[in-house]
Amino acid sequence: MSGKEPLANWNGSEMPLNEVLVPVTDRAFFFGDGVYEVVRIYGGRPWLLEEHFMRLEASLRGIQLDCDLDRLKQRALATLQHARVDSAMIYIQVTRGAAKRNHSFPEPPPPPNELIYIQELPPDKYESVRKRGVAAVTAKDIRWQRCDIKSINLLPNCLVQESAKRAGAEEALFVGDDGYVTEGTHTNVFGIRDGTLFTAPLSNRILAGITRRWVLDHAAEAGLAVSETAIKAGDIPHMSEVFLTGTTTEILGVRTVDGIKIGQGCTGDITGELFRLLKDDIASLAG
Ligand code: PDD
Repeated sequence: MSGKEPLANWNGSEMPLNEVLVPVTDRAFFFGDGVYEVVRIYGGRPWLLEEHFMRLEASLRGIQLDCDLDRLKQRALATLQHARVDSAMIYIQVTRGAAKRNHSFPEPPPPPNELIYIQELPPDKYESVRKRGVAAVTAKDIRWQRCDIKSINLLPNCLVQESAKRAGAEEALFVGDDGYVTEGTHTNVFGIRDGTLFTAPLSNRILAGITRRWVLDHAAEAGLAVSETAIKAGDIPHMSEVFLTGTTTEILGVRTVDGIKIGQGCTGDITGELFRLLKDDIASLAG
């Protein structure tokens, strides 16, 4: 992997990411008024691109922002081709554009500001910890009530992730006031108990993860029944396996939660099997 500057596409013009100039009055700067997507690239090709664009469409609808998604997708694919990467991610962000600072939407609406950039990634960011699994901690879910929108307002996620890191953990699992696990700061959360896979149901309290959907669709191949039922934080120690899913995280085993060992205290066998199934499916993309 080279350390070269990511190639960006800013409103249709390609340039190195560090040459993009964003107007200071962009509503993302004042209000975090925008949405984003992260798409994984394997072997130079996007993985589950349509699914990510469908979610982007839903996020844009969620904040009442119009954007030409066909044009954005063509730009993303052209920029990807020009970046000539193998293992990477595409970051896509759409904001409501530049306008005088006012809470209500600007009238007439300014053109949205559309940023795409291609960031090279190691083939497996978590290779060194895949077998051992990672530590996680629980944290109060302090976020807003539209976590289904992939908004760029990630301050609660950043604050909680930072305290997890300081506690020596890789991820924090958000727990709602009702005592149920919603999701991680940048991942969805799964638990296995007695051959059944549990994860929070889709609602305004979680992001509809693309990797989450892939896991639910392939669980039967790993011999699992599926229950989209949230896990009570107090039941985490009774799970035989816990794992995280996300576009860059892929499927990552959890060895401890709040210092309590899960299963054997390493990535569980079924988690490992799901990860292998995912890798096989990704490999078939190249074939
Ligand atoms: N994070 N939940 C949250 C809050 C997330 O931010 C993410 C993704 C996920 C997993 O979704 P998916 O499987 O579609 O990536 C769940 C991205 C990768 C990020 O912010 O970098």
